[in-house]
Amino acid sequence: MRSVLVTGGAGYVGSHACKALAAAGWLPVAYDDLSSGHADLVRWGPLEVGDVGDSTNLDDVFERHRPQAVMHFAAASLVGASVADPAATYRRNVVGSLILLEAMRRHRVDAIVFSSTCATYGIPERVPIAEDAAQRPINPYGWSKLMVERLLADFAAAYGTRAVALRYFNAAGADPEGETGEDHLPETHLIPRALMAAGGLLPRLDIFGGDLSTPDGTCIRDYIHVSDLAGWHVAALDRALAAEAGLLALNLGNGRGWSVREVVAAVERVTGRRVPLVVTAPRPGDPPVLVADPTRARRMLAGPAATGLDTMVETAWRWLCRRRL
Ligand code: UFG
Repeated sequence: MRSVLVTGGAGYVGSHACKALAAAGWLPVAYDDLSSGHADLVRWGPLEVGDVGDSTNLDDVFERHRPQAVMHFAAASLVGASVADPAATYRRNVVGSLILLEAMRRHRVDAIVFSSTCATYGIPERVPIAEDAAQRPINPYGWSKLMVERLLADFAAAYGTRAVALRYFNAAGADPEGETGEDHLPETHLIPRALMAAGGLLPRLDIFGGDLSTPDGTCIRDYIHVSDLAGWHVAALDRALAAEAGLLALNLGNGRGWSVREVVAAVERVTGRRVPLVVTAPRPGDPPVLVADPTRARRMLAGPAATGLDTMVETAWRWLCRRRL
């Protein structure tokens, strides 16, 4: 069976990608150090426990599974933590990715789908954001992902790597069949925190900034269902395997934004419960509006249709109820 090495395959987006790969006839081999992933979310193929920075372990896994391609999700992904401890973020994200790319070369695997981020754009001059917008990150997390995009472009030019970097906006929701979902510790993301406040797991939701330059004063983000993201990854994989050497960068988002208050309203609608709220100061480094222009991905790849906000919230709520309530 054709296999794909999925680094971070026990994590939130990675586990959904494993499910989508299996549905498309691939064997996903999850490679995860379980520092934030969960072994019980690896359900569609084997789990290899290891660090992307461990070249000996990678050699062994490449030898045994002989993957045709790599999907690379494993990363430190918290913006705040990257500011407090940039060395840890750069080591994990940049050094780890370099070691992975070198292992791919040794084992003659040249196709990779990389999990990049809208954080590489920093504070955009224009929204919606297209791929040719200036990339000026405002935190080490965004820089680390941009540095890996650079590595991929240079590896493509020198060694023939075929790479697709998917710059995603806000991943949200959970598998509609309830087989995997979001389980971060600590949980910092808006939708799960609002649901936790609705379900009594948090005393209240803090809204970071209520007086911003947006219609209702709260931040606007472009949320995309995690299962849609997973489907786009499979389409990107097909593209990477068929393409010439090079790096293709694509935005993945819904192409519309929702404010924090609109998200809270969706949470109250779906759960039938009130979300206790307090408006606090803006979170440092949070741009007021981030919305994708997803035209290029839709033109170049055959991805899934966009799921709406209520379905994202509803699938996340069912997952939270099953996992925590
Ligand atoms: N927010 C709140 N209260 C909370 C949590 C979030 O008001 O308790 C707000 C944030 O200020 C932001 C929005 O809700 O405006 C979404 O915040 P999330 O933390 O859910 O997501 P981010 O937009 O901060 O982060 C996402 C990804 C990161 C990526 C970043 C790029 O999770 O990996 O986008 O900006 F780096």
